[in-house]
Amino acid sequence: MPKTRKLSEAKFRSLFENSPYGIFQSSANGDRLLIANPALVRMLGYESSEELARLRLSKLLYTRPSDRSLVIHSIASSGRFEGDLEWKRKDGSLISVHLIAQLVPEIPGGDKLIEGTIEDLTAKRTLEQHLQRVQHLDSIGGLAGGMAHELNNLHMVISSYAEMLLPELQSATQKRKADAILHASRRASTLIHQLLAFSRKQTLTPQVLDTTRALNEITAMLRGTIRENISIDCRCEMEVGNVRVDPLQLQEVLVNLATNAADAMPHGGKLVITAENATLTSDEPVGNQGAKIAAGEYVVIKVSDTGLGMDQATQARVFEPFFTTKPVGEGTGLGLSSTYGIVKQSGGWIKVESKPGQGTTFTIYLPLIENALTSRASSAQHTMSAQRSSAVTVLLVEDEAGLREPVRDYLTKEGYRVLDAANGADALQLLESQSSRIDALITDVIMPQVNGPELARRLKARFPEMKVIFMSGYAEDKLGGPESFRDSVLLKKPFALRALRAKLQELLLSTLTI
Ligand SMILES: Nc1ncnc2c1ncn2[C@@H]1O[C@H](COP(=O)(O)OP(=O)(O)OP(=O)(O)O)[C@@H](O)[C@H]1O
Ligand SMILES: [Mg+2]
Repeated sequence: MPKTRKLSEAKFRSLFENSPYGIFQSSANGDRLLIANPALVRMLGYESSEELARLRLSKLLYTRPSDRSLVIHSIASSGRFEGDLEWKRKDGSLISVHLIAQLVPEIPGGDKLIEGTIEDLTAKRTLEQHLQRVQHLDSIGGLAGGMAHELNNLHMVISSYAEMLLPELQSATQKRKADAILHASRRASTLIHQLLAFSRKQTLTPQVLDTTRALNEITAMLRGTIRENISIDCRCEMEVGNVRVDPLQLQEVLVNLATNAADAMPHGGKLVITAENATLTSDEPVGNQGAKIAAGEYVVIKVSDTGLGMDQATQARVFEPFFTTKPVGEGTGLGLSSTYGIVKQSGGWIKVESKPGQGTTFTIYLPLIENALTSRASSAQHTMSAQRSSAVTVLLVEDEAGLREPVRDYLTKEGYRVLDAANGADALQLLESQSSRIDALITDVIMPQVNGPELARRLKARFPEMKVIFMSGYAEDKLGGPESFRDSVLLKKPFALRALRAKLQELLLSTLTI
């Protein structure tokens, strides 16, 4: 063979051998592969092109016989086929491919052949499905968040009036009725919290926590609440670092996961909680979220059970709000969606791994925090008895009249002197005409023109001793980060009037300068 021909053959061979696309030649009926390049052999999960060549493709490759008929018919009529197909690998797993095939002109003395290229679309398809799921979750998140926010304000009006009404009522029947309103509104409050958590619009009070300590405390609490035929094991490495989360929310996450695990183990079983540090050097895919966990240092918390497990279809939907497989009245389907929201809002990631009959593991990644901050001393134990509330002037700023009025009436009844305004600008104007000192400001956060933090800053210039309570149903990121509230208190809507009074008393008695 002349040298130049040899060289050009070697070049073509290299192209064929190293192509990332599958390249093949098959018999004219498309049933036997005559030539397959290494990429195609790998794609279909076989050992060699010889092994592949021995197979009847009509039997082994196609998941749907109609797909094969379509390909053959198209090649017979137009000499060409191009389209997406679903094939089976050697191990039976499915693969999405893009096939371009054509009939090659008859080689003199030889048979007709089909040749073409194959692209593996599986990874692309999986990513597309994951992205769709994330977008789906995001869009329901937006809807759920908007609704929860509206319901939040309505809920506060209902519960506040019921709370104020209760001590005024004389007859036992009337008291029972008002109690029933309060009871129902507490249930509504839980649902609103879960919806806000899912849509990541919840107000969080994150703290730097020692993971091991926090998990051990939560496990001890779980042991008292989870059925006795379920053993709970907490295996946290001693050197696990700190995380920055709202402790109550971390507790809620673990309670949700443990409750689900217990439900999946009706005849008893084992619940294992582990925590360890992990360094991700490159972005790691998160199974169900279509996203990747950014490289970095993490604390990884796993909650595993030996329960019934879940099939793929269930796993794909577990984080959707109101998705439940439990009978009516036994599950609202909000547990995992709020868990998802809390973890995401805390800058983390959550994924699920499960197989029917083989238990389930939820894995949470939370960014590792190096240094613990010293927690602020709390004066929650103090009572107001030491200070007479009537000496205290409170400025209440809230645009929802339905909420402002019951809060104002309640605080007035509690003996405070209350000035109120519908927004920051009105409040500043009101103070122009008032010479009185403001001891405490209770204000909404998001307001037009002068928002809550801005109002607080301006008033502090005049009354440096003034205490501040922000009332908000929005997430901390919408408030400009927790730093802006370092010296004040954030009260999450919905709240009970008693909780507002307790916070106010605590602040007024505290020695902290706000
Ligand atoms: N550990 C688990 N094992 C098996 N299935 C689970 C597990 N955790 C969740 N699931 C499935 O995911 C579904 C959704 O869970 P989620 O916690 O969001 O709602 P729920 O438990 O049905 O209701 P809720 O938590 O609101 O009372 C469950 O109904 C169940 O089918
Ligand atoms: Mg649940």
